[in-house]
Amino acid sequence: MKPSTPRPIHLKDYRPPAYLIDKVDLDFDLDPIRTRIRSRLSVRPNPKASARREPLRLDGEHLELDEIKLDRRVLAKKDYKLTDTSLTIPKTPSKPFTLEITTFVNPQANKALQGLYRTSNVYCTQCEAEGFRRITYFLDRPDVLASYTVRIEADPNEAPILLSNGNLLERGTLDSGKRHYAVWRDPFPKPSYLFALVGGDLAPIASSFRTMSGRLVDLAIYVEHGKEERAAWAMDSLKRAMRWDEVRFGREYDLDVFNIVAVSDFNMGAMENKGLNVFNDRLILASPETATDTIFEAIESVVAHEYFHNWTGNRITCRDWFQLCLKEGLTVFRDQEFSGDERSSVVQRILDVRQLKTHQFSEDAGPLAHPVRPETYIEINNFYTATVYEKGSEVVRMIQTLLGRENFRKGMDLYFERHDGEAATVEQFIRCFEDASGVDLSQFRLWYSQAGTPELVCALRYDKAKKKAELEVEQVLPATPGQAHKKPMHIPLRLGLLGGNGHDVALKLDSGEELADGIVSVTKRRQTFRFVDVPSRPVPSLLRNFSAPVNVTIDLPDRDVELLMAADSDLFNRWQAANSFATRTLVEITRLLAQGKQTARGARYAKALGATISTDALEPAYRAELLKLPTQADIARVIGKNVDPALIHRAHRRLAKLIGRTLGPLLEDIYGAMAEDGPFSPSAESAGRRALRNAALTLLTAQWGPRDITRLSRHYFKATNMTDRAHALFLLAAYGGAESARALDDFYARWKGDHVVVDTWFAAQAQSPLAGTLKRVEALTHHPLFALTAPNKVRALIGTFAATNPVQFNRPDGAGYAFVAGHVLMLDRMNPQIAARMLGAFRSWRALESGRRGQARKALQRVARAKNLSSDVQEIVSKMLEA
Ligand code: PHE
Ligand code: ZN
Repeated sequence: MKPSTPRPIHLKDYRPPAYLIDKVDLDFDLDPIRTRIRSRLSVRPNPKASARREPLRLDGEHLELDEIKLDRRVLAKKDYKLTDTSLTIPKTPSKPFTLEITTFVNPQANKALQGLYRTSNVYCTQCEAEGFRRITYFLDRPDVLASYTVRIEADPNEAPILLSNGNLLERGTLDSGKRHYAVWRDPFPKPSYLFALVGGDLAPIASSFRTMSGRLVDLAIYVEHGKEERAAWAMDSLKRAMRWDEVRFGREYDLDVFNIVAVSDFNMGAMENKGLNVFNDRLILASPETATDTIFEAIESVVAHEYFHNWTGNRITCRDWFQLCLKEGLTVFRDQEFSGDERSSVVQRILDVRQLKTHQFSEDAGPLAHPVRPETYIEINNFYTATVYEKGSEVVRMIQTLLGRENFRKGMDLYFERHDGEAATVEQFIRCFEDASGVDLSQFRLWYSQAGTPELVCALRYDKAKKKAELEVEQVLPATPGQAHKKPMHIPLRLGLLGGNGHDVALKLDSGEELADGIVSVTKRRQTFRFVDVPSRPVPSLLRNFSAPVNVTIDLPDRDVELLMAADSDLFNRWQAANSFATRTLVEITRLLAQGKQTARGARYAKALGATISTDALEPAYRAELLKLPTQADIARVIGKNVDPALIHRAHRRLAKLIGRTLGPLLEDIYGAMAEDGPFSPSAESAGRRALRNAALTLLTAQWGPRDITRLSRHYFKATNMTDRAHALFLLAAYGGAESARALDDFYARWKGDHVVVDTWFAAQAQSPLAGTLKRVEALTHHPLFALTAPNKVRALIGTFAATNPVQFNRPDGAGYAFVAGHVLMLDRMNPQIAARMLGAFRSWRALESGRRGQARKALQRVARAKNLSSDVQEIVSKMLEA
């Protein structure tokens, strides 16, 4: 077990390792409850470390140590020191030496899903961030790079497939067929977190890829028997990602094989182990009947993401875990660009910004706020966050915006050239862009160290006589935990000025400079940009394409917003104008409801929306995004304090109804016109038509009239694909009554045998805003298909309830909080990583109105008081409760 008071680790304390390990030979003898691991390490003192010789301290947890040899001599107990987390050898030779260590682990008993574990009888490993130390004693840190040779021996009936990183060297049978083995060798030095092993009875789908230099790479995706066909889309995505990385970034794959394995129990989405990616099977398996378009999209982007890590993460890795954004932010940026190129770039941008605002902006506004590169942590697993990933990606995107695409590519090329084979830092990354472009990014670096979402408070003045427009910008940097005062940041602000006809006015600064790309750099606390030759009072279009992860506030009259919605040449900003109009309307309705007033507010928004979506020139997927209202969580974030989720829910329903009523005929038209009866295609175009049709259906149904319910029921039962079926299921479950029961029963009967699809059935019930939901969710935790040890089940039921059911999670009686807190405590005994994540649902608790705030505090205090908390949960709960 871990020490009871885990110590914080600080970036400033980084020291190079005292020893290096160049070569690792591993030998696994797989057994469900007693797997033996023999490791042979070539160790040497690090010439770059301090001259004073230090003891060799290896990390190790949950291990049974059998034997240690140093240069073939067995060490006696007195020659080393063993604790629950380490193995220290005080005296080592001053020359390179060999260490041989034998350990035993119990994969079957491993429910934390870190290190070596079993899932549906498949042996599998997860080593990022610090799981390798649960396999053997090692310098388990990313700046120790070694080349690995791995021998795996197993029962051929139980594990006919044996995989590890790199290329297959050899395989054979032993004991007249009772055992068999495989030997894998990975020539590329890598940190231990990229090690992987899989053993099990899995079925492959195979293909190949010809790289840009003409090498043939064997590709395989391993899935459960009988599910092979459902891996086709993932394979297709992989090949497109491989090609895209060659074209866009000049990156070629480097091994002879690339393997992907899908497993059922996995703490995260997927993992980029060198040459052997391991995936949560919900992000591999897809067919029209079983997966929604959203899942198809997610598969495409996660397969690409993990593949892209081969260069950004694996070939160049992180010096320490503080640099996590160096691989994650950059790789998210790359997968977002890929999806944008494969699909519609503006729709992709809208989806990414939505995701950023919902998850990252709210994280940044609460007790868990931290910089893109944190400076201290207790448990690194708690830092795989929206800030590191999504904001990390935005920071890379801003570099591209500031430098331009060409210079950005030069910077990336330099980064690959300079740091290939190394464990790098954020400073080294930024330096490459400065060196390649000559642009000074010193102030820009603050994006990595200052937490919180900056706000740009803007005002526009127009002088008709002088034909001058002045844009005044003030940057407000909100305080975040541990960072009360902040320095002004370097914020790229892309903008346009619309003339009365909606056309862009040429942007000429009073300095004479012309802004061809519309980008100005906001660098001071207050700044004024003066534009000349502006013929009439312009309407400002700010933060085009979301050029920085900030909030912009500007007071614009409705008619200006309507002009932006109708005519902005930047399509992203047309959507942004609509979205902020909707947000403003919803905040207003919520306020009026709080005062007990009746309101018909929203008519003007509905009208403007109708005008914009009638434009046939806009692609369906884009129009679908226009029709989606901001989420209730988004409204809560904008309101910011004394939040009453029940009122927001009512306001939301009211506006949906109003839009449904106002735009009824138009929505009916869309619903009819977007129907498709040809064969299913997962293409962006087809998915866009389905998305638009379903978005129209949602609004049409908002009245809950008998006709609406009939239409919805029909939509469910007539559906020929999972996108339509699941969409109707969620709406029906939200409505309740006999129709809901009928659909839920039908869904269950169809899919109870499929552990991936049945999660939708759990989630639809957990998301229902009806009063009986908590009871139902509680009952479902005892359902035979539910298991606390299965992260996907926990996320589908408890995660959905806590994160996407604002009304019922935030019940005024606190029962929702108590339920989640209780499950966090149960989960913590088996899987601390998942427990800590579930606890994250409380991250906005301080913004609640006082009654709910009190209830949430009680639930959090109960967690904090519990005995033997993991460091994961301990760290999160104490941050939540800190003043
Ligand atoms: N590195 C994985 C990714 O691509 C995420 C992950 C982290 C997976 C930790 C498992 C454990 O984003
Ligand atoms: Zn990643």
